Formats: sequence, structure tokens, C-alpha cells
Amino acid sequence: MRILFVCLGNICRSPTAEGVLRAIAAREFPELKLDIESAGTADYHVGEPPDRRTVAAARRRGYDLAGLRARLVRRDDFGRFNYVLAMDHANLAELERLRPEGAAARLALFLEFAPEAKVLEVPDPYYGGVEDFERVLDLCEVGARGLLARLVSGTP
Ligand code: 4NP
Repeated sequence: MRILFVCLGNICRSPTAEGVLRAIAAREFPELKLDIESAGTADYHVGEPPDRRTVAAARRRGYDLAGLRARLVRRDDFGRFNYVLAMDHANLAELERLRPEGAAARLALFLEFAPEAKVLEVPDPYYGGVEDFERVLDLCEVGARGLLARLVSGTP
């Protein structure tokens, strides 16, 4: 199963989702074979590691994001991934615009898989404070568990 997380800059939210899902899946569902990546809809930070505030907040919870590098989402991602999961409605709208006709990937908001989150968007923390980066981690953990429950149950 191949999963691509997408946000705007690919330095805060989607690398967090990538690292959190990878870690929880490896720990709790080692039988699941997942290929997980992340990408951005904007090119501002291509080639850069995640934002230092994102790396620090993740490290405090035991997730290592330091090796990740930002890239742009590409049209061929919609053929390579089973799920393309957006962090907010703006990301989703951009992905709908980019998606080639007839592409196989399931395109959705990440938090659609986690009704217990009570919200559908992971808010952009870039101009926020420490608590906003903590909120990204909270939502990515809830989202990852919701998505894993879905994948394990085999429900499409
Ligand atoms: P992300 O956050 O989309 O979660 O990676 C942002 C990163 C950079 C910018 C905006 C949001 N920026 O404007 O540079």
C-alpha cells in the first residue's frame, strides 16, 4: 500500500504525517507493508529538511524527521500511490486540479479517516507558535491511527 501525504510547503504538516504514520505502523502493525512519502503543492522549500520547529516537536515525541527533504507533488504521483491525502481543503483543491483524468489514487483529506479527531483539517502551523506544532502532532497521531484501522480492516 502506497500513501502520499500532501500539504503546502512539505516542511511542517505532511512530513509530520509521514514520520508519525511510519513509526506507528512499524511499531503496531509490522505486517502491513506501507510505502509512505510526502510532498508539497508549493515549491518554496524544495530540497529542504522539515522546519526546525517541526523537527524539534516531533523529536520530543520520539519521531525522527531530520532525514526528510521537501519535494513538489507531481502528476505521476496519482498513478504511483493508492492514497493521496491532503492536510486541508486548499491542498485538496490544488490536488484535484493537478490530478490526471482517470488516475487511480484515492484523493481525500487525511482526517476523513479519523472521525474521532472531530475536525477535517490539520491547520498550517507555519506562522504559529509551539502549541500549533503540538496540535499538528496530535492530529497526525489521531489521523495515523484512524488510517491504520481502516487499512487493517480492509475497508476501502
Ligand atoms: P506546511 O507549512 O504546508 O505544513 O509545510 C508551511 C510551510 C511553509 C509555508 C507555509 C506553510 N510558507 O509559506 O513558506
